[in-house]
Amino acid sequence: MIPNGTLDLSADPDGIAQAADLLRQGLLVAFATETVYGLGGDACNGRAVASIYAAKGRPSFNPLIAHVSSAEAARRFVQWSDMAETLAAAFWPGPLTMVLPLKEGHRISSLVTAGLDTLAVRVPAHGTARALLTAFGGPVAAPSANPSGQISPTTADHVRSGLGGRIAAILDDGPCGVGVESTIVGLAGEPSLLRPGGVALEDIESVLGTRLHLHQAGDLLTAPGQLQSHYAPDAPVRLNAESPQGDEVLLGFGPVPCDLNLSEAGDLDEAAANLFSALHTLNATGRPIAVSPIPDQGLGVAINDRLRRAAAPRDT
Ligand code: TXA
Ligand code: MG
Repeated sequence: MIPNGTLDLSADPDGIAQAADLLRQGLLVAFATETVYGLGGDACNGRAVASIYAAKGRPSFNPLIAHVSSAEAARRFVQWSDMAETLAAAFWPGPLTMVLPLKEGHRISSLVTAGLDTLAVRVPAHGTARALLTAFGGPVAAPSANPSGQISPTTADHVRSGLGGRIAAILDDGPCGVGVESTIVGLAGEPSLLRPGGVALEDIESVLGTRLHLHQAGDLLTAPGQLQSHYAPDAPVRLNAESPQGDEVLLGFGPVPCDLNLSEAGDLDEAAANLFSALHTLNATGRPIAVSPIPDQGLGVAINDRLRRAAAPRDT
């Protein structure tokens, strides 16, 4: 627990310097990225990383992404490859995470990787995230800044309502532009899509000139697939709904009458940016949620992945 509550820091040089200091003390700082808000801690400090899992209530077998300021920084921790170079050149900085074999002498806490011999690395594009990484000067482990299993945060308010009082500070820089988490590509073995996200699969395959292996749900290698229910509002979620039934609120897509629209114009990038905020808003109504069909292409693949998990049966 943070004795004096959670500090609100603004994304100016002073706020960034304070946030970097807190990270150096082994404390946790939530910060804006282009995808969702991350809950950052020093990736080389085992106690800091342990407190990330504790603050989120996250199972410690679910590894974290190490955020670094450049591809050059990433190469200090992982074994690089031609494919990694190609993807980094095309999509970094940006919403792409690569899983690569750890390098000898890497210094990353084994809690970050949950004991695996691979590390997920990402160079974020967001100005505030980049400034924080530069000021801190080392790798920052950062899962999404929400209690485990709940809806991901795309504003500082979402972070505050989920984790306020449990973390040292929130570096507020407004709503996240992409709105869904990074795409995760596994490059430790056969190149594979471990999680659809902010970079469209089509774009990755076109840059690589090859298809990625797609893991089936329930496959042990699927990054987030170990936990089928995720991103879950309190109320039930019904997918591919043409119209609401009973007490349902309808989350629309395209020109449909509804309670809240992800994108009236039917734009998938806009819909991704609005997704988690819309789920937070509709969740607050306490009513069951119905969702319009979303095309399964571009960022629609990531949107549908998150919606399927939001709608999945819950264990708890
Ligand atoms: O956009 C994002 O990626 C955001 C922002 C904050 O950067 N972060 C994020 O982290 O979504 P998180 O912890 O919510 O999701 C990380 C995912 C998990 O599903 C985890 O299983 C997977 O990455 N992962 C991490 N390390 C891995 C590894 N070595 N092998 C396979 N999957 C891994
Ligand atoms: Mg998450």
